[in-house]
Amino acid sequence: MTSRTSARHAVNAARRALLAGAAALALASPTRARAVRTDHAARIRHLIGQMTLDEKIGQLNQVPGGRQKALNSKIDAAQLDLVRKGAVGSYLHVAGADFLRDLQRVAVEESRLKIPLLFGIDVIHGFRTIFPVPLGMAATFDPEIVRACSRIAAIETSVSGLHWTFTPMVDIARDPRWGRIVEGAGEDPYLGSRMAEAQILGLQTEDLSGKDTVLACAKHFGAYGAASGGRDYDSADLSDRTLQEVYMPPFRAAALAGAGSFMTAFNDIAGVPTTANQALVRGQLREHWGYEGLVVSDWNAILELINHGVAETPAQAAALALKAGVDMDMAGGVYAGHLKQAVADDPSLLPYLDQAVGRVLAVKARLGLFDDPFRFGDAAREKAEIGSATHRAVAAEAARKSIVLLKNTGNLLPLTAPGRRVAVIGALADDASSALGSWRARGQVGDVRTLLSALKAQGGLTIDYQPGATPRGEDASGIPAAVAAARAADVILLVIGEDYDHSAEARSRSDITLPGVQAQLAHAVLDTGKPVVVVLMNGRPLALAEVLDRADAALETWFLGVESGPAIVDVLTGRTSPAGRLPAGLPRNAGTSPGFYAHLPSGRPADPDLSKDSARYHDVAIGPLFPFGHGLSYASFAYGDLALDRSTVAPDGAVTISLNVTNTGKVAADEVVQLYVRDPVALVARPVKELRGFVRVLLKPGETRRISFRLAAAQLALWDAGRWRIQAGRIEVMIGASSDDIRLRGAFTIAADGWGTEPPAALLTPVSVS
Ligand code: BGC
Repeated sequence: MTSRTSARHAVNAARRALLAGAAALALASPTRARAVRTDHAARIRHLIGQMTLDEKIGQLNQVPGGRQKALNSKIDAAQLDLVRKGAVGSYLHVAGADFLRDLQRVAVEESRLKIPLLFGIDVIHGFRTIFPVPLGMAATFDPEIVRACSRIAAIETSVSGLHWTFTPMVDIARDPRWGRIVEGAGEDPYLGSRMAEAQILGLQTEDLSGKDTVLACAKHFGAYGAASGGRDYDSADLSDRTLQEVYMPPFRAAALAGAGSFMTAFNDIAGVPTTANQALVRGQLREHWGYEGLVVSDWNAILELINHGVAETPAQAAALALKAGVDMDMAGGVYAGHLKQAVADDPSLLPYLDQAVGRVLAVKARLGLFDDPFRFGDAAREKAEIGSATHRAVAAEAARKSIVLLKNTGNLLPLTAPGRRVAVIGALADDASSALGSWRARGQVGDVRTLLSALKAQGGLTIDYQPGATPRGEDASGIPAAVAAARAADVILLVIGEDYDHSAEARSRSDITLPGVQAQLAHAVLDTGKPVVVVLMNGRPLALAEVLDRADAALETWFLGVESGPAIVDVLTGRTSPAGRLPAGLPRNAGTSPGFYAHLPSGRPADPDLSKDSARYHDVAIGPLFPFGHGLSYASFAYGDLALDRSTVAPDGAVTISLNVTNTGKVAADEVVQLYVRDPVALVARPVKELRGFVRVLLKPGETRRISFRLAAAQLALWDAGRWRIQAGRIEVMIGASSDDIRLRGAFTIAADGWGTEPPAALLTPVSVS
């Protein structure tokens, strides 16, 4: 067995073990969960009956126990006194099995009611073993690997004594100026829904009280990703239809997958901050969706209701949030400091208070903390398992799967000829910190294998590294040396993009071209006329038309985590054929944002002929540079034999859409087969194309697989004044390798009108491969 096949066996064995663990728990869960639930309801009622008003408010108080980069740093004697008094329900920004055991001991041994604390942290794409950033994970179009990574994140988090992570961020993001696009699954609600449920199942499994689980948190409920102009925290002003059809589906999918908690967004929708939005939180989430989990505010967001201008005093802000259905106050201290006054002013708040306390206690119960408050945290496993080789092997697989081949003129890639002289240009090639992305929990820079180190370790290539320029700063003095190295090389790897801190919370940018002097570096290198492979590293889609048009080949590699370098080298050298797909299109320039493939048709659709008045910009070509779903391969694929098992479907029925896909290339490779639909004539204009299914499938050269999608008529419903209307009529079906590479077309008819119950994009299209 070669070292490569043995590594692959190790990965597969690890994944099988992880997924089998989840499956075993799923089988064991139903009866057990029911028994536990009845028992808990009685216990919770009893506890609430014993609690003072202060103790109740204490349960709703989440306190920072440290800072993001200095966990535990704020836990002092004064905090321990608050815990003894029952004035704290939860801490965030804490970690460590021994540390948290001691802290928990204070709560369950020294407080009057002995209620365990809930410990939370942001584990956004890995705890110590850092995986690709979420936008990169979405590019895998592979929910199974996402789930496997989340499972590992949960193991590492829970053995460190933590119960809760503020993940996944399921906000749809259609504006790459928004820095938090890096934290989600991009522009599409169907892809976003699948990524949401994969993460939740990985973190929580099917039974939260099982081994190595952590409570997930779907965030930031509302329309945080629709912030005007892509400015973080800014107002979202969107139609109810867009809210329901585009922004809500991943949240609904998250709720259906069992997400134990939700976080409300910082921003407002048409003037109503979500943290005070009764119609959305108490109405839609709680009453309509029947959601029973915990709702936490975002950091200090309750107090910020004053800045929004919907409350004058902290007590009013507390009352608004409580009435809206926000159970826990993250880091604001508003419930702790002012809810008592609010209740004194308005005793009708008391039932809301009891409900909120009940939900906090229910989550603690679901996690098994009343049965064993020390069930999380295991110092021995913390040492042995965190960052283990098994975990890193899965991180490497995820990193390989996230890479998107944007272009490959003349099949410059893969670099197969031995002994070639490769100029590696750009400081990002050796930037271990950026590989970790903006959220990194306990990730360590020293754990990262950078592209440069992996290239050197690879052998067979002569490497000449010249940083040339960093993504930050105006120092162009390294450019001449980079050009000299480029001239002497057979091929150039031009590693450019953003650093980890260009995209993140509060990191919106109006200019999404290359920061610093990288454009100058890139053009100087391209001017040598040597073959250039651009290796992009970034947390957002960048607008790089001028550079990418001139390059021979380009890879989008996001920030890939600890195994970043080896994964990129595997793709560069052809050991792995790339098959990642863009979860958000790459715009031609920032001025075209927001842009997305699933737009409405317009009465005057965009026309290449500038003499016609049409829905386009006059100064730039139509559409993105690379669209949603785009990604090339070292193989090629033929699509054929499209068949629908029926031509007419009842509104409560489904159609099976089948096709063959054949690897017509010379190497084994994954292909991502995508199903799009369109309702060409409806009550209101419908998007020109909407993703409703996908599958990533491995094909050997010459191999053919038959793919079948089972699409329900309800997945075509549109939001019509508060209901999901299914309309009779013809539906177009498109199958392709990207949103603009449609290979097969068909149609079926929905026989009669009807009503759906769920956001269509939240519903899974089952896929079989034979
Ligand atoms: C972010 C959340 C995060 C929280 C806790 C906030 O600023 O918006 O996504 O979970 O901080 O760190």
